[in-house]
Amino acid sequence: MATPTPSQSLALILLRASLSRSLGFSPVRSTLSDVISAPPTSCSFGAPLIMPNGVLKLSVNLGKKTAANPSGECLAHVTTSSDFRAQLLSLVQSNLDNLVASDLPVTNRRCTRREYEAVNGLALGMNGGTIRTAKKKKKKPKKDEDGNVIPEPPYDAGDDVLYVTRVDGVAYGVGMSPSAGRTGAAGRITVATGEKDSQVTVGRYIEVVVKVQCEVQDGEGGEVEEGIEGGGWETEVDGSMGVGGEVLMRKEVEEIAEKVEEMEVKEVKGEMVVNPWDVSGKIDYNKLVEQFGSVRIDEAMLERLLATVKKIGKVTELHPWIRRGIFFSHRDLSRILDLVDAGKPFYLYTGRGPSSAAMHLGHLVPFMMTAWLQRAFDVPLVVQMTDDEKFIWKGEYKDGDDNLDYFRGLTRENARDIISCGFIKEKTFIFSDCDYVGSMYPNIVRIWKSVTYATAQAMFGFNKHNIGQPAFPAIQAAPSFPSSFPVVLGQGRDSEMACLIPCAIDQDPYFRMTRDVAHKMVPRTHPLGGKPALFHSKFFPPLQGASGKMSSSDDNSAIFLTDSPSQIKQKIMGHAFSGGHETAKEQKEKGADLDADVSYQWLRFFLEDDEKLELIGKDYGSGSGEYWATGMVKKELIAILQDMVAKHQERRKEVTDEVVDEWMAVRKLDF
Ligand code: TRP
Repeated sequence: MATPTPSQSLALILLRASLSRSLGFSPVRSTLSDVISAPPTSCSFGAPLIMPNGVLKLSVNLGKKTAANPSGECLAHVTTSSDFRAQLLSLVQSNLDNLVASDLPVTNRRCTRREYEAVNGLALGMNGGTIRTAKKKKKKPKKDEDGNVIPEPPYDAGDDVLYVTRVDGVAYGVGMSPSAGRTGAAGRITVATGEKDSQVTVGRYIEVVVKVQCEVQDGEGGEVEEGIEGGGWETEVDGSMGVGGEVLMRKEVEEIAEKVEEMEVKEVKGEMVVNPWDVSGKIDYNKLVEQFGSVRIDEAMLERLLATVKKIGKVTELHPWIRRGIFFSHRDLSRILDLVDAGKPFYLYTGRGPSSAAMHLGHLVPFMMTAWLQRAFDVPLVVQMTDDEKFIWKGEYKDGDDNLDYFRGLTRENARDIISCGFIKEKTFIFSDCDYVGSMYPNIVRIWKSVTYATAQAMFGFNKHNIGQPAFPAIQAAPSFPSSFPVVLGQGRDSEMACLIPCAIDQDPYFRMTRDVAHKMVPRTHPLGGKPALFHSKFFPPLQGASGKMSSSDDNSAIFLTDSPSQIKQKIMGHAFSGGHETAKEQKEKGADLDADVSYQWLRFFLEDDEKLELIGKDYGSGSGEYWATGMVKKELIAILQDMVAKHQERRKEVTDEVVDEWMAVRKLDF
């Protein structure tokens, strides 16, 4: 992330103070275990993010319901009610306004991380260019027999320069750059109140996200004094935020929460949420298969798949993601294999919602798998680009125009990345919904007619934002039927061609609906009754931790296909969540938690060599051998990703506008 400007640094510490004050918490303590062990005096702030347009995003974690904390202390009763959200945001805004209007002096001190930790008896974790406190007592550095300090993985950052910023009695923060010298310097700090900007979410954790923008973006920094003087920081701030404005105390928060309990949207159970718009919580894939009613890929299926592709003869072994259970669930895959055995045709269908020009590694997973399937089975493929979907959900009308064309442009940008995944050109058709919808329209109308509003509402839970949302699922369903491609696949209403859809499992609800109406879309003789078969993948975990999926709106949660080798290195070193232990001694005793370790999990995706992967897992998991610590594992991953992304960039360079036109041309595919 970018280093904050002085105004942004200021805005961030004021926001921190205002937000915690509004919630009735002290901004001083900062770790989740503090929150759980000592509610309600504390809350846990995530690393702030600076978005490219200067918007600042800060999230605060209010704890979770745990066995140790069964009553769900720490605002566990807070709901996602818009009432609560609106009250909280307006309070934060007025607290910020007060702080700015008071124009209080701000002091900056410069010291090293080591000095800071020595004075405060705390260790700081580095995250996103800002500093996060971690509840850990300062430990003596480990030394080897010769008395040399052994660096702790991933690196020893004791020499890092920190800025300690303070507004006496009001706010306190530690960051990578100094703040402006007075609280008035950033001008008005405006809280973004849009539903997508600032959110109160109740999932596994209860999280509040607030975005702000400051009026003055890059004012001067204040004076900086050297050294961290004696005296802990707790005494300076704790409980004495005299000028912060109104406080919404915990009791009041609970009262509001009680009032709105009936209007509650999501229950506080820390449960996982998986649907096309939201993936959060700790994902339990077994439970998901059970809930969705799909079928787990088992040994027998693996054997049959292998035998089938070997017989076709284009590949000699299964893709590592199939062997490793990353593609883990299916619907009717055995029926597809039956068809292959019987010499009958099928086609592949997958897609992408082009929501940003920057695609990341997670986006490539279904496409890389699809490219392998296409090669292994030697079949045609259609790729739907849902520019309509993204516009319906994320589009805007502003200053006399909307941005539908922006999403149509993204279709072409993203198509270049997709093409670079290695599909067979003569057998692949990529289409934008906006351009191609005409040919699919008769099927779309049939699907609209077949699904009741109540069914769609129950399946997708639309929030009645606009009438495009409930209409859209039919558009994602339509390519599942061969007659949507009269020219491309040369199929009519009497077609018996089957369809197989590789996708991440969050897309499954669309295709459950599709399968329900499928019999109306094909002749009675269709081998699968028209139902598309599915091949589901797990999610590619974000850098920060192995639950949920990566997001392109959070810069540091992903490796983008445009990242340079040094960016890749910096992101992995600085942000990849480690399942290893803090000290070398502990790591050697206990070994790493491989499930939680993002670098190891990413290696399961991208390290092809099974034996090496097993060795790394064994070493790292036990804290011994060549790969005993996080640093070595990260190094391995960095090299693989740098190579992979660089090769992708090379291939993408070859994909000119004309080449995109060729792949997107309506033409009979060759199969
Ligand atoms: N809705 C998907 C997304 O937002 C895009 C998509 C359309 C898709 N058709 C698909 C994904 C078929 C998988 C399979 O990314």
